[in-house]
Amino acid sequence: MKVGILGTGAVGEALGRGFHAIGADVTMGSRSAGNEKAVAWARSLGERAAEGSFADAARFGETIVFATKGSAVLDVVEAAGADAFAGKVVIDATNPLDFSRGYPDLSVKGEDSLGEQLQCAIPEAKVVKCFNTTNASLMFRPDLAGGPPDMFIAGNDAAAKAEVGRILDQFGWLVVDCGPILSARWLEAMTMAWVHAARVKGHWRIAWKLLE
Ligand SMILES: NC(=O)c1ccc[n+]([C@@H]2O[C@H](COP(=O)([O-])OP(=O)(O)OC[C@H]3O[C@@H](n4cnc5c(N)ncnc54)[C@H](OP(=O)(O)O)[C@@H]3O)[C@@H](O)[C@H]2O)c1
Repeated sequence: MKVGILGTGAVGEALGRGFHAIGADVTMGSRSAGNEKAVAWARSLGERAAEGSFADAARFGETIVFATKGSAVLDVVEAAGADAFAGKVVIDATNPLDFSRGYPDLSVKGEDSLGEQLQCAIPEAKVVKCFNTTNASLMFRPDLAGGPPDMFIAGNDAAAKAEVGRILDQFGWLVVDCGPILSARWLEAMTMAWVHAARVKGHWRIAWKLLE
């Protein structure tokens, strides 16, 4: 599997490392090739890990992960070119976080979401909202006392969600399918509940579980 990771932050680093660990060839992209964090990340993994621009990583990936700052997502699509995503599974791990009010909030909410905006910007891609409801440190093989947590996902394409489900299985997660990409608005809202709970608890080692 060839995976393009768009983002050099904690999420890009963790998911890139996870995909590499399950045997994928991974290219991490940033605003410019030669990004210090991306170079260090690729060097630490050795074979099957490379870095480049956002466009390089998007073109490389058969599966692509968005792990950029939420406010930059649409600019990154423009930088990479929408064509680079056509026909591919695009995992959207981003959140439209807004800290301008002095507490964490969403800059896109209500009857819209960043996941929906991304799907609109790359209509020929199969966007699956995933990984946005937990901390980067838990994204690959979380070891929580309560057992494997649930990853809530949303997307319009059933085959793409099945593919993401297989990835999640290897990453140590159970899957809760929340329907079409429209549900990204609720998955992004879940982030706010999780972020504020983590602030009260004083740690980030929490994840969701749906009990039936
Ligand atoms: N941190 C977490 O635990 C966590 C958990 C769940 C979801 N998320 C979401 O996942 C995403 C990534 O989070 P993160 O903490 O790993 O990193 P981040 O600091 O939110 O984002 C870092 C990435 O955003 C890119 N970026 C920043 N400003 C940009 C701009 N103006 N134009 C283009 N690209 C820009 C950076 O590019 P360069 O590489 O060029 O610097 C870098 O690759 C965010 O949307 C976040 O809300 C985070």
